[in-house]
Amino acid sequence: MRTHRIAVIAGDGIGREVIPVGMCVLSRAAALDGSFRLDFEELPWGCDYYERTGRMMAEDAFEILREFDAIYLGAIGAPGVPDHVSSWGVQLRIRQELQLFVNLRPIRLFPGVRCPLRDFENGGIDFVCVRENSEGEYAGAGGRVHRGFDGEVAIQAEVFTRAGIDRVARYAFELARRRRKHVASVTKSNALEHSFVLWDEVVESAGREFPDVEVARVYADAAAAFFVTRPQSFDVVLASNLFGDVLTDLGAAIQGSIGLAASANLNPTAAFPGMFEPAHGSAPDIAGRGVANPLGAVWSGVLLLEELGQPDAAVSVLRAMEQLLASGGPRTPDLGGTASTDEVGEALEGELVAGGSLRSS
Ligand code: IPM
Ligand code: MG
Repeated sequence: MRTHRIAVIAGDGIGREVIPVGMCVLSRAAALDGSFRLDFEELPWGCDYYERTGRMMAEDAFEILREFDAIYLGAIGAPGVPDHVSSWGVQLRIRQELQLFVNLRPIRLFPGVRCPLRDFENGGIDFVCVRENSEGEYAGAGGRVHRGFDGEVAIQAEVFTRAGIDRVARYAFELARRRRKHVASVTKSNALEHSFVLWDEVVESAGREFPDVEVARVYADAAAAFFVTRPQSFDVVLASNLFGDVLTDLGAAIQGSIGLAASANLNPTAAFPGMFEPAHGSAPDIAGRGVANPLGAVWSGVLLLEELGQPDAAVSVLRAMEQLLASGGPRTPDLGGTASTDEVGEALEGELVAGGSLRSS
């Protein structure tokens, strides 16, 4: 039987509450499928590890991580550690070192989830954001000089490369080809006349190789408005690192809760394992109470199964999620319910088993 090895970094805060649910659900899906196994190995990295060792991850973290088929990450960040230290110690660093240049974030209004937008209920929003994940505004280039003096200067440089834009644009076009064949390229070339004019040129030239896919250029500020006024018009949204970061949180809001936000960090050339993480963060304000929504982690697990080449198991978990939400099953407070993280996990496993027996009967 095929075994997929998964590195688990549950991390901090609610990451440690939602990842165990995700692991149970994914293991259950594998068992029901019967054709593969998931072998999870937990790595104790994150802010506690930092407090003990002065590092967010082990020194040989990348030698370790490269041996796995995928990385399943909960959340990183705790009040005692500056956020830029924890983020650059784990997620941002992993994205760069493993060249995970695509950050894939599905935005869907699941039937049964209340939408904050007046005209949307029972679905009607279904698009995918492809965020450039290795360079752009989060390249990490720059520095600070004359620290503490009146003349102090901070420079945070954007780094846009032809190759970096081209590879992520192609991924977006390929994805659109399998969907509704539309790419909205988020730009700001009216003001950022170097970086985003290059962005536009490279997206346009990549797009010429996909004549069946329509591409629209949308300014980032307008895109933010359209996420609210006409989210149904999006199919694939291609965005730079910063714009993608901001817009996907807005996307999470219109899908009903940041607790549902799922993501996959991918290197489509498959040289390195992908990293799958809910995008809600460690949420210290609710951590330890057992009320975090595990569905963002579970949905990230669906993306993980797809990337491992287990589409049947992926679909069965997604169906279980859809069923749970549509049927008014238990939900956590962020979705208006009173259920705990574990209760949602148990209900989801129940749906999985029910769905599995329907299929085999
Ligand atoms: C996300 C997060 C990260 C990001 C933070 C933790 C650095 O907000 O995955 O969206 O900005 O990429
Ligand atoms: Mg973010």
